[in-house]
Amino acid sequence: MGKTNGHASPSAAGRDFIVRDARVEDAAALAAIERAAFDPAHYGNMLLTKRSFAGHIEGGRNAVPVAVAADGTVFGYALGFVKKGSPYVRFASLAVLPAYEGRGAGTALLDAVEDFARRRQLKGVRLEVREDNQRLLDRYGRRGYEVFTRVPDYYQDGAAAVRLARLV
Ligand SMILES: CC(C)(COP(=O)(O)OP(=O)(O)OC[C@H]1O[C@@H](n2cnc3c(N)ncnc32)[C@H](O)[C@@H]1OP(=O)(O)O)[C@@H](O)C(=O)NCCC(=O)NCCS
Repeated sequence: MGKTNGHASPSAAGRDFIVRDARVEDAAALAAIERAAFDPAHYGNMLLTKRSFAGHIEGGRNAVPVAVAADGTVFGYALGFVKKGSPYVRFASLAVLPAYEGRGAGTALLDAVEDFARRRQLKGVRLEVREDNQRLLDRYGRRGYEVFTRVPDYYQDGAAAVRLARLV
C-alpha cells in the first residue's frame, strides 16, 4: 500500500518493532495496553478485557494485529471486526502503550488492518470518527478514507459520528 499521508512513519526496514497477528496468549498484554491507553476512569466498562480479547482472537474471523518490540514486549494492538457476510473490516480500536508512542506503531497497525482486508479479498475498511475531531478526520482523509454517512447522537455526550471507508 502506498503511504499517502506524508507523515514521517519509519519504513518497515527502519522499525524497531514487528507487527504480527495476535495469539490467544497475548490477551492479558492486550488488556493491559487497553487500560494504559484509555483511562479506565473515563471509559469504565467499555474497555476490552482479557477475556474479550481472547474471544476476538480465537474466533479467527477478526483482524487483531499486534506490535512487538525487539525484546518481545507486546505494546500495541489494533482490532477490526468482520461480521459474517460483510465485505468490510470494521476498524474498532487501536492502542499503543504510552512509552512506545510516536514510533510509527499506530500507523503500522492500521496498515496491517488494511492488509488483512486485502488478504481476505474484502472490499475495504470502515471506521467511525467523532465529527468534531477534525485532526483525525484529516489524517484519515489523507490516507484515502472517504465519508459515506453521518450518524447523529452517536456518542454518549450527544456528538455525531461520521463513518468513513477506504477501499483496498
Ligand atoms: C493513537 C495511538 C494508537 C497512536 O499510536 P502511535 O504509535 O504513537 O502512532 P504513530 O507513531 O504511528 O502516529 C503518529 C501520529 O499519528 C497519530 N495517529 C495515528 N493513528 C491514529 C489513529 N488511528 N487515531 C488517532 N491518532 C492516530 C498519533 O497520535 C500521532 O500523532 P502526532 O504525530 O500528531 O503526535 C496512540 O497514541 C494511543 O494508543 N492513544 C490512546 C488510545 C487512542 O486514542 N486510540 C485511538 C482511538 S481508538
